[in-house]
Amino acid sequence: MEKLGLNEIRQRFRDFYISKDHYAGKSASLIPRNDKSLLLINSGMAPLKNYFAGVETPPAKRMTTCQKCIRTGDIDNVGITARHGTFFEMLGNFSFGDYFKRQSLEWGLEFMTEWLHMPFEKIWATVYENDDEAVEIWKDLGMPAERIVRLGKDDNFWEIGLGPCGPCSELYFDRGEEYGCGSPDCKPGCDCDRYLEFWNHVFTQFSKEEDGSYSNLANPNIDTGMGLERMACIMQGVDSIFDIDTIRHILNGVVAKSGVEYKDGQVPTDVSMRIITDHLRSMTFMIGDGIMPSNEGRGYVLRRIIRRAARHGRLLGIDGQFLAKLSETVINESKDGYPELDEKKEFIFKVLTEEE
Ligand code: SER
Repeated sequence: MEKLGLNEIRQRFRDFYISKDHYAGKSASLIPRNDKSLLLINSGMAPLKNYFAGVETPPAKRMTTCQKCIRTGDIDNVGITARHGTFFEMLGNFSFGDYFKRQSLEWGLEFMTEWLHMPFEKIWATVYENDDEAVEIWKDLGMPAERIVRLGKDDNFWEIGLGPCGPCSELYFDRGEEYGCGSPDCKPGCDCDRYLEFWNHVFTQFSKEEDGSYSNLANPNIDTGMGLERMACIMQGVDSIFDIDTIRHILNGVVAKSGVEYKDGQVPTDVSMRIITDHLRSMTFMIGDGIMPSNEGRGYVLRRIIRRAARHGRLLGIDGQFLAKLSETVINESKDGYPELDEKKEFIFKVLTEEE
């Protein structure tokens, strides 16, 4: 496979969907607009919910974005595992009552095999347990039956908060037997590390209501989400998000600042470096979107992230302030996709310096 940088994968995805007549939108702010169910934007579709629900008119019926996202539910795992992060980017293509299941899967396959040159035999698909239509589409597209796995609602029905949701088909990359558990039954859905999920195609047909019921949406829609960092791990042949080109540059800044060697393992200093690296990404993007540290809501999430990073800096022996300086690398690595970071650079430094 061609080794692609994180910024190049983002661009290639965008170019592909533009070539399929999609309107390429900008990432929305991390601050949700008119959505009380969310503190922070946590997926590509979250800022587009009203388009799916038909409450607002989208700029086009086909859209593609790369959305900045924050999820802090697993914050305690960040730095300890290879792939947890509070900040991540989600690439997506969306159809608002335009194309549906077959077209989404067909273009998905074309992008993976013809634009990223991923080996088809390493790609597996899961589908919702009773979604025979998705199984048939995958078979028509050449996917052997043994690489199509049916999973239940926990895995293959996508919903988050209220609003648009539906069954989904997830794509997995087979990293090879050496990562597996050895069980003859090992396949996507197994708890081991062999199959890496990287792209979710959601067939958004329902809306989840406040009382927990589901209603049908007027039009079936498509919402896909590809974890950019996961895809970068695959394309760069690395196990950990902290070894991806752009993220490793941020981590290298922590190494240089602390003078501590990064052993790429589980010693406490490695964990601290990874926590700081991830949290630097979150805090830089949050402040870039105008979130200010405070004692409640989003501001508290930001304050907590800054404090955790600052504390791990002390554990590494860093004297004095360091966050503003290191956030510059986040800005430089990400400004291709998010020019607003560069425009708000001085403001970001100022807020970080004051808070630290
Ligand atoms: N909403 C789905 C997800 O976040 C696909 O975009 O996985």
